[in-house]
Amino acid sequence: MDLALETRKPSEARADVLVLGRYADEGRVPAEVVAVDRALGGLLTKVLQSEKFESKPGQISYVHTGGKIPAERVLVVGLGPHRREKTRGDAEPLRRAAAAAVRRARDLNAGSVAVFMPPDGLSSRERAQAVVEGALLGTYRFDKYLKEKNPRAVRALTVLEPDRRGAAGAREGVRLGRIWAEATCLTRDLVNEPANVVTPTFLARRATEIAREGGLKLRVLERAECARMGMGAYVGVAQGSEEPPKFIHLSYVPAGRARRRVVIIGKGITFDSGGLDLKTADGMLRMKDDMAGAAAVLGLFHALPKLKPRVEVHGLIAATENMPSGTAQRPGDVVRAMNGLTVEIGNTDAEGRLTLADALSYAVRHVKPDEMIDMATLTGAVVIALGQGVSGMMASNDALAARVLAAADGAGERMWRLPLHDEYKEGLKSDVADLNNISSQRGAGAIVAALFMREFTAGVPWAHLDIAGTAFTERELPLGPKGGTGVTVRTLLGYLASTNGRR
Ligand code: BES
Ligand code: ZN
Ligand code: ZN
Repeated sequence: MDLALETRKPSEARADVLVLGRYADEGRVPAEVVAVDRALGGLLTKVLQSEKFESKPGQISYVHTGGKIPAERVLVVGLGPHRREKTRGDAEPLRRAAAAAVRRARDLNAGSVAVFMPPDGLSSRERAQAVVEGALLGTYRFDKYLKEKNPRAVRALTVLEPDRRGAAGAREGVRLGRIWAEATCLTRDLVNEPANVVTPTFLARRATEIAREGGLKLRVLERAECARMGMGAYVGVAQGSEEPPKFIHLSYVPAGRARRRVVIIGKGITFDSGGLDLKTADGMLRMKDDMAGAAAVLGLFHALPKLKPRVEVHGLIAATENMPSGTAQRPGDVVRAMNGLTVEIGNTDAEGRLTLADALSYAVRHVKPDEMIDMATLTGAVVIALGQGVSGMMASNDALAARVLAAADGAGERMWRLPLHDEYKEGLKSDVADLNNISSQRGAGAIVAALFMREFTAGVPWAHLDIAGTAFTERELPLGPKGGTGVTVRTLLGYLASTNGRR
């Protein structure tokens, strides 16, 4: 999609469809909208009145202009109520409205769309960025394996910012919106690809491409090297698979002095069969998405070279399959992780925490970060606790947790912090090793998994995002179709931008 910013008034915009956002309790209709209505001889007001248009979120109505303004059709999209009680505006209604409107314009066979959203507590930068994110995420499709593809597509999107004082900000918003959305769509593609395509080797190849394009440093460790470095927990998970594991380390180093060094880790199980503790058919069905954390790391690193934050960022993926075979890890095996802790394998299906344990240890020893964040489709328990709409967060540091939660809020990605309740660590005791990878006690599965991982963080401030419920959706969402959601990519980008001191 070609993207542009214009300072033209909506009544002068040239497009197949002109989109006008409308708040429900709009006290005074913006002058720009009044001008469109006037030019159409009051047609817009008449249609909205007769349809009892309430401006509910995503509600849509449209009229043909009959050549009275340069746009062929005017499409009004509801934004819901103004957030008057809030001092800060909320970008999410704009993203969702832009998504719904551009989707509808596409279905009306529009090739070009121009969007005007009324100002409301958001800067011109935030408004433009939200519109672009909504348009690109909302029209995302994964159709590469379909013979019959939908030929309709919006080729050009113009964001209208008639107030010239907001033009520079809006232009930056269009640029950021494109980068953030494209990173998210890259992540979605990787999650949607089946596990016979996305193997650890494929992830390493994709990382190589991303590193080459962006001038990033990349190190890929093979199985033998990982074993030599002491990653017994990770290598143990990989030993049942014919696909060679790949430990991927991407680094982005800013030109000037970095404000911080951050490690971002993504769980990269390209298929989770459960191992010898085999999953049921139903439980296994969707397990190609068990690399959604890794996919988010790759999406992030696709964006970083274009955004150039003043933060040093390291991306780590301990990629492998989790398969049953004659060489597979057995329940009861004992492995030694890189930090020296031994782990009894209570269940081979609790493999994510084993791979992440060594990624965390590697980060502590070889990167020496100021803080670490991991994203992992880690537990079914977090889906029970928070459902498919909210990611779980567990963090060892309150300030870090607060900053990540604020970034998630800004990105419109729901996230809720769960407690790292120390007493639950009791359950992870083993008779023969320092730790068991599952708990002997019932309940709190998401917290227990995080407590296990905390043993490998060596006191470095750390936030863990359990995205088992949010990485993949079985139903259409406002910002995208069924399948991979690309969750956490925009949260992380917002987080790094705020760490940067500027957005
Ligand atoms: N990849 C799964 C977690 C998962 C479950 C992701 C459902 C998405 C949807 C993970 O490796 C796993 O199997 N976890 C087990 C842990 C248990 C054996 C302690 C689980 O949650 O059941
Ligand atoms: Zn598993
Ligand atoms: Zn898993």
